[in-house]
Amino acid sequence: MAIRNLRYQGDDILKKKSKEVPEEDISTEKIQTLIDDMIETMHKYNGVGLAAVQVGVLKRIVVIDLYDDKGPIVLINPVIIKTKGEQEVEEGCLSFPNEFAKIIRPAEVVAEYTDRDGRRMQVKAKELLAQAISHEVDHLNGEVFVDKIIPGTLEYVEPEEN
Ligand code: NI
Repeated sequence: MAIRNLRYQGDDILKKKSKEVPEEDISTEKIQTLIDDMIETMHKYNGVGLAAVQVGVLKRIVVIDLYDDKGPIVLINPVIIKTKGEQEVEEGCLSFPNEFAKIIRPAEVVAEYTDRDGRRMQVKAKELLAQAISHEVDHLNGEVFVDKIIPGTLEYVEPEEN
């Protein structure tokens, strides 16, 4: 496994739409290694989620970890099939270090995706997981959170010294 280089604000790749992963490619070493590297990179930077485009790969792959007992989840070719309600949340993104803003996200989402073993799955999510799925699926469509924040709420937070 390896830490991959993150792509940051201003990099045009973040505005590009990612491509579907063919089902037969999911078991390949290339894709499985990419997934492992994405998880390691997300953990290294204490992220809750990471889309492949953020490490420069235009494939519809997302990893999410809420640091609860479920461990990291891997969503390949995710599709949000239903949303319900709204939540106003504080949000950041590993591609926009130290920037946080308020944003309206769906309160609940139902998403279909393929897991890393090639099984088509469905997840019903609320609160932080709903927010994370919504944020990461936006990345796959070339959308970043700063484009849809509540105006005037963007804050720059100084990084903590280590
Ligand atoms: Ni992000």
